[in-house]
Amino acid sequence: MSKALVIFFSRADENYNVGQVEVGNTEIFANNIVEKLKADGVEVDTFKIVPQNPYPAGYDDCVAQATSERQMDERPEYVGDVDLAPYDTIFFGYPIWWGDMPMIVYNFLEKHVFTGKNFVPFCTHEGSGESGTFATAGGLAVGANVEAGLAIQGKLARQEGGKKQVNYWIDQTRV
Ligand SMILES: Cc1cc2nc3c(=O)[nH]c(=O)nc-3n(C[C@H](O)[C@H](O)[C@H](O)COP(=O)(O)O)c2cc1C
Repeated sequence: MSKALVIFFSRADENYNVGQVEVGNTEIFANNIVEKLKADGVEVDTFKIVPQNPYPAGYDDCVAQATSERQMDERPEYVGDVDLAPYDTIFFGYPIWWGDMPMIVYNFLEKHVFTGKNFVPFCTHEGSGESGTFATAGGLAVGANVEAGLAIQGKLARQEGGKKQVNYWIDQTRV
């Protein structure tokens, strides 16, 4: 029986197109993955990439910080870590920030070894789609088998239609 780990970064508070939320769009996407895998009888754990320095609650302030991190090519630190060794399949999710992955997500990918893992990227966005990030993430997961990812619009990820997309996608995915 395969063992899966769902890793994600997601930000709550004020965001584009959804207003003030307590749970971020990508976190809801991740929760739907967990629910589906459990229903399919797959053993699954999660790891949330939590910034040591929280992002500002206001959307504009968050955008300003994200822009600065990108310009400075920073690698923001996150809280704790996870050992990938026990897992066969790694689901890996993030929001699209400036047509790319958030810098904290680069930090996580660069710090871990994915050799021999089954790597399944996913993301949320508000119009850009995955913007080539599945190839970027898959390229950083050196030595992994990279499965087809799924990008869902953030607002839709919060709705029943988003959940249906997740279920359909997992049925087509090697886990
Ligand atoms: C700093 C920042 C930059 C963003 N840049 C983009 C972008 O380039 N393209 C896009 O479609 N959405 C962009 N968005 C919208 C997010 O991708 C979208 O709201 C996502 O669902 C947020 O996920 P989360 O709630 O899990 O953090 C951006 C949001 C933020 C906060």
